Amino acid sequence: MKNILVLGAAGQIGSELVPYLRKIYGENHVIATFNRTPLLQEIKESGPAVQMDAINKDSMYEAVKKYDIDTIFNLVAVLSAKGEANPTLSWRINMETTFNCLEIMKDVRGAVFTPSSIGAFGPSTPQDQTPQDTIMRPTTIYGISKVAGELLGDYYYLKYGVDARGLRYPGIISNVTLPGGGTTDYAVEIYYEAIKTKSYTSNLSAGTFLDMMYMPDALRSAVELMEADPAKLVHRNCFNVTAMSFDPEMIAAAIRKYIPEFRLDYKVDPVKQAIADSWPNSMDDSAARSEWGWKPEFDLDSMTKDMIEKVSAKLKK
Ligand code: SER
Repeated sequence: MKNILVLGAAGQIGSELVPYLRKIYGENHVIATFNRTPLLQEIKESGPAVQMDAINKDSMYEAVKKYDIDTIFNLVAVLSAKGEANPTLSWRINMETTFNCLEIMKDVRGAVFTPSSIGAFGPSTPQDQTPQDTIMRPTTIYGISKVAGELLGDYYYLKYGVDARGLRYPGIISNVTLPGGGTTDYAVEIYYEAIKTKSYTSNLSAGTFLDMMYMPDALRSAVELMEADPAKLVHRNCFNVTAMSFDPEMIAAAIRKYIPEFRLDYKVDPVKQAIADSWPNSMDDSAARSEWGWKPEFDLDSMTKDMIEKVSAKLKK
């Protein structure tokens, strides 16, 4: 990876991936793109940035040529719950962006990283230790677009040699930019509310187990996959990766080690609950571990300690 284009640089992952990549590959080699949401000041000031709509192929191509891009991190997506409110928009944004990246990288013979998700699985998938290769019949438009994106990536690799790679991310927990419109968002909000009000009302019920990962692991996994020896990759385009699996009660118990009076109650959102119920309780990520050495660093306790420190400091500012 020499010159990298990050689509969605103002989003939850992009706003942390850009600084992370700039440290490794050099500030002027990582181009941040954004559309409606403005970039963080730090990103604007530390390297090149381009405002563009990722569904406009011509403007993406222009940026690729201008900066001699060889790798795109395709982080533009409408997440699961928001997608159910507007399926047409979700399909359009998720698919056209992925399609544009693959088409352009076919021409310039480059690489594309597109995150897939636990959302690519559905109710007929085995829910515990969900295998790498299994039934994938998601019931959300987000999940359908993620499965289609995985298949499209494989297709462009097999037919045109585009180096399309990807991970099936679990819920990502972070403290810089809030996620928006996802089903796993509660696991971020709970920390902010625990610090602000010592209480939280969960929109998923007790006993709803989902895979999760702390942002530092998510960033490292993306770069490690993109740097992995291609000869070793069998599932190049859609690796299960996870770091932990918990339900609302478990994350509340972890928070109580630092905020003993923390109170958790429930007001279940039926749309989000149905989505969560259709996703795995826990994934088997042994293919990622054996093909490119994936290993998470953070578990629920170490993540909770770090989240409480960082979010407390942020809220004091
Ligand atoms: N975090 C995403 C969501 O909840 C799943 O990949 O939609």
